[in-house]
Amino acid sequence: MATVLTDARVMTCAEDPRGSLGLIDRGAVVIEGGELAWVGASDDLPAAYRGAETIALGGRLLTPGLIDCHAHPLFAGDRADEFAMRARGASYQEIAAAGGGIAATTGPTRAATVEDLAALTQQRMRRALAAGTTTMEAKSGYDLTLNGERRLLVVARAIDGDPIALEPTLLAHLIPAEARATADREEYVRAFAEDLIPVIAAARLATSVDVYCDEGAYTLSETRTLLTAAREEGLGVRAHVGQFADRGGAELLAELGARSADHLEQVSAAGIAALAAAGTVAVMLPGACVQLRMAPPPVAALRAAGVALAVASDLNPGTSYGETLPIAMWLATTHYAMTVEEAWLGVTRIAARALGLADRGVLAPGRRADLVAWDTTTPAEIPYHFGANLVAAIWRGGVRVHGAIARRP
Ligand code: NIG
Ligand code: FE
Repeated sequence: MATVLTDARVMTCAEDPRGSLGLIDRGAVVIEGGELAWVGASDDLPAAYRGAETIALGGRLLTPGLIDCHAHPLFAGDRADEFAMRARGASYQEIAAAGGGIAATTGPTRAATVEDLAALTQQRMRRALAAGTTTMEAKSGYDLTLNGERRLLVVARAIDGDPIALEPTLLAHLIPAEARATADREEYVRAFAEDLIPVIAAARLATSVDVYCDEGAYTLSETRTLLTAAREEGLGVRAHVGQFADRGGAELLAELGARSADHLEQVSAAGIAALAAAGTVAVMLPGACVQLRMAPPPVAALRAAGVALAVASDLNPGTSYGETLPIAMWLATTHYAMTVEEAWLGVTRIAARALGLADRGVLAPGRRADLVAWDTTTPAEIPYHFGANLVAAIWRGGVRVHGAIARRP
């Protein structure tokens, strides 16, 4: 049974030499079996679909479902106290050195039951869906014990698809406090690489491994050990690099053929050239950058080198507590001086590439029917009209999971 969505301004986000976002005025799409069967101008709709169930969208913008390719939704507790301390002038590093930061989320996360972790994460998934997200990455990283990290990914698997798709990533976030001594640290990294990563890969509990490579977190050589182990297990490779200090992470990621390099506030010209040559996606996380009142990454240099840019929420309890990708698009176009087209591709086609997902991110025959109808005709309106929720309706796998199509004024 086919469904036709017609009278839409269809934005395919497909590869287009004019960089036009693939807009089709008076467009239509056909949904069949959870996939897109046809995309084009309404006038060209094949005769076979003319009698099918048809929903007229009143000229609304129709885009791919948004993809949040960098998110940490698996945690318990909050750090509102740290937010208030930063508002009074304390820095992220000062708070972390005093026992706050990531370590302050491990306590509540370890103490939470599987049921509570699932419920908390699903609350975040519902908020993300309401803002247009149909696929979200789910990084582990807030337990830090090897069994606990695995437990977080088991939770992610249990709630995948309810109500949005979760793409699971094993994150080596921090050396836990109990393993900070040099010898313990070496043993922790060894066990993470040799004991945990193969188990996660064999159970297919994650599709990639991410490492937080920065001041106060993993060194470059530890990052190499962990990501090499991931690659040997056939997992995708990514890392948080250069949020605070450039440790040469971009060059390492390029060498390993990584899917993405994330943050990049600090990155050298050589690092940018290496990312471009390797085809590694740069994931921009303006929510964290703005909240920490930092200067943006060198977007113009990344663009000039030909590095593809994704935009993500960095949803996490410390530096970016928000599920709303249109807000990240607003910050990307204002604080980061990205174009509206870059912001859109960054949450659709390029985000899919960062996650290694070939079946979504653009509207084309054979792709998943993950779609958002917006209460506007203008792509720029989504970042421009910040904080407003312009989502009219959402389909995931061809099924309407949110909103309704009312008459447009
Ligand atoms: O911004 N991984 C490093 N920093 C995280 C925030 C983690 C936290 O403070 O809880 C990020 O991606
Ligand atoms: Fe992050």
